[in-house]
Amino acid sequence: MINLENVSKKFGTGVFGLSDITFAVEKGEFVFLVGPTGSGKTTIFKLLIREMYPTQGTIVVDSWDLVKLPSKQVPELRKKIGVVFQDLKLLTDRTIFENIILPLDIAGVNEEESGRRVEEVLERVGIIEHRDKFPIQLSGGELQRTAIARALILSPDIILADEPTGDLDEATAWDIVKLLSEINEGGTTVIMATHNADIVKKMDKRIIELSLGSIVNDKKTKPKHKKKEEEKDEKPKEKKEVHEEARKDDKKESEKGEDKGKKPITDEFEKALEEE
Ligand SMILES: Nc1ncnc2c1ncn2[C@@H]1O[C@H](COP(=O)(O)OP(=O)(O)OP(=O)(O)O)[C@@H](O)[C@H]1O
Ligand SMILES: [Mg+2]
Repeated sequence: MINLENVSKKFGTGVFGLSDITFAVEKGEFVFLVGPTGSGKTTIFKLLIREMYPTQGTIVVDSWDLVKLPSKQVPELRKKIGVVFQDLKLLTDRTIFENIILPLDIAGVNEEESGRRVEEVLERVGIIEHRDKFPIQLSGGELQRTAIARALILSPDIILADEPTGDLDEATAWDIVKLLSEINEGGTTVIMATHNADIVKKMDKRIIELSLGSIVNDKKTKPKHKKKEEEKDEKPKEKKEVHEEARKDDKKESEKGEDKGKKPITDEFEKALEEE
């Protein structure tokens, strides 16, 4: 369902967000993405929704090659992937109901059907009583539920939740994880980025651990015969091309000045890429 192969993301000023990562996530999996601040978790999410292009490597979602995907098809990709953003991105001047109905409005769903679907999803995440309040009137846990509801509203196949337990107390954090787990049990693939070691340890799910843009651990046990087959199939590594679209990304980002003050590319990263 999701396949990243030898993916690197180098930002405009030379910072490496990701350095040659490869992993696949199957339909229906629940995966924790862990690693310290700056290790590349959010960068993976941004690449998966084509908010930006990888510098190198291939990303395939549901057989769609995201490097080649025409921009006009990106809205369709975003229907497949619901995102709970690290900073939530809720609109402060709209009610909870209005925030959640927005993706349906944009998708052109009629008013009656949209209203029904919003009610349904609000019930599902347990915040129906807050439907007419504004985000400022809700607690952290309720806001996370709102963001999850908005991510669910287009019935996506995949949910990406970026640090959804960040500012919450332990009990509320567990409620959110349980909610995501229930969503997963309903068949939705879930990838959750988190710093919450306790939850990760107790949930017994696959854990992909990042450090400085590389995968340092992927706790997924595959049957031995499958590993051997993969070794046989391994192709010699080709010299990597830098994607043209990523160059445009970098240019845009440098123009926006987003990279200012970020650390420069390290020799280690440069070397690692050259070795490939
Ligand atoms: N637009 C950008 N321009 C330049 N560097 C960036 C940009 N976005 C991210 N980075 C850098 O890429 C690296 C990975 O960032 P990312 O946001 O993916 O980390 P993260 O694992 O999500 O961290 P956190 O746990 O703090 O959310 C960091 O060094 C970060 O400074
Ligand atoms: Mg992040």
